[in-house]
Amino acid sequence: AIDIAKLRADTGCITIDHGFLNTGSCASAITFLDGELGILRYRGYPIEQLAEKSTFIEVAYLLNWGNLPTQAELASFEKKVASYSKLPEYITRMIELFPKTAHPMAIASSVTVALSAHYPELNNPNPTKEQKDEIFALLLGQFKIITAAIQRVTTGQPLVASNPALSYTEDFMSMMGMKASKDVAKALDVLLILHADHEQNCSTSTVRVVGSSNASVFASISAGIDALWGPLHGGANQEVLEMLEEISNAGGDYKKALERAKDKNDTFKLMGFGHRVYKNFDPRAKIIKKACDTVLAQLGVKDPYLDIAKGLEQTALADDYFKSRNLYPNVDFYSGIIYRALGIPTNMFTVMFALGRMPGWLAQWKEMRETKETKISRPRQVYTGATTREYTDLGKR
Ligand code: ACO
Repeated sequence: AIDIAKLRADTGCITIDHGFLNTGSCASAITFLDGELGILRYRGYPIEQLAEKSTFIEVAYLLNWGNLPTQAELASFEKKVASYSKLPEYITRMIELFPKTAHPMAIASSVTVALSAHYPELNNPNPTKEQKDEIFALLLGQFKIITAAIQRVTTGQPLVASNPALSYTEDFMSMMGMKASKDVAKALDVLLILHADHEQNCSTSTVRVVGSSNASVFASISAGIDALWGPLHGGANQEVLEMLEEISNAGGDYKKALERAKDKNDTFKLMGFGHRVYKNFDPRAKIIKKACDTVLAQLGVKDPYLDIAKGLEQTALADDYFKSRNLYPNVDFYSGIIYRALGIPTNMFTVMFALGRMPGWLAQWKEMRETKETKISRPRQVYTGATTREYTDLGKR
């Protein structure tokens, strides 16, 4: 007979932690962040140093393999990523077949999971070391082309072929049809570095949760893209720009927007402000603000949205509502202004975030698969519904 009392004792009590504010879902050696001090490090290296000295592809290597690459390792990795210079035919056709009104994130997520059909041997949840290396290079390479293809197709422009002789970011810019100086390419590369990983955020946790069921890496990453799409997460970069646009169209009075954000009867939030973990400042926002000034100066762009954003920031930082709740600009507050200056359509902003986050998702997926303590993610609940009820026949209800 089943000993219910013993079973209950073994299971223990269940805690509820809405939004997992204080629940660790895993142990990880990839990214460290201290929300109070505003510290972010990838594999121990401060984000400020990586943004200044490294490249996105070098940071991707660091996240995945744990150490900065030697020159030979970097050259070989770059070559491997660049070898993915074409999408399977059906993926390009899928991108073309979507209605023109489709959101680019819907296309990005769909074609990422669809890639699984082209690489059936890589759907194994426990790939060999060689296969894991392949998956990493493949998804970095292919997602770069996917991003550019979505942008070209949804704006009615012909595709530009990948050029494996260019660096990752320069090739991406060329496929997007952007002509830019080295400084602007560096600024975009920095943006990708700043987005590359951020420990157990909503999309990364999603990648781990889906991957924990032994779903393929393509399914796990596609699910991560879906989670990123939400406006409380990566989708905030699109919403920030739409908010600035709305304020600008209404005459530029940003103080009204601040008042709305403070009104608890209004669902409006100051997009690009606040963070679950950073309660002092977001170190990425500081770097992005600087990059934003550089890009606009280099391109000779005078963007009125930047003035509104700076006005919003200054006023909010001096306001008791925002001060008492430790609300500061996050990574998304200024990134959209850079993307806009580069001519990237607003609805593509979150795909740009996904491009940057790809190495982090993949490194976290690999770490999860290689951790022997990994179990299927399956939280419990506290049931609050009806107790046992007798079934009433249809005719008697
Ligand atoms: N505007 C106005 N009020 C805000 C904002 C905001 N942007 N963010 C938080 N608050 C308020 C909340 O209403 C709450 O007030 P209360 O204590 O009076 O109820 C308090 O500050 C705490 O906020 P929570 O929502 O409880 O904080 P949480 O950690 O759950 O949410 C989040 C963090 C989702 C980032 C939130 O700050 C937000 O919605 N920001 C706007 C969206 C955004 O920029 N998201 C991108 C985050 S960065 C990223 O994912 C890459």
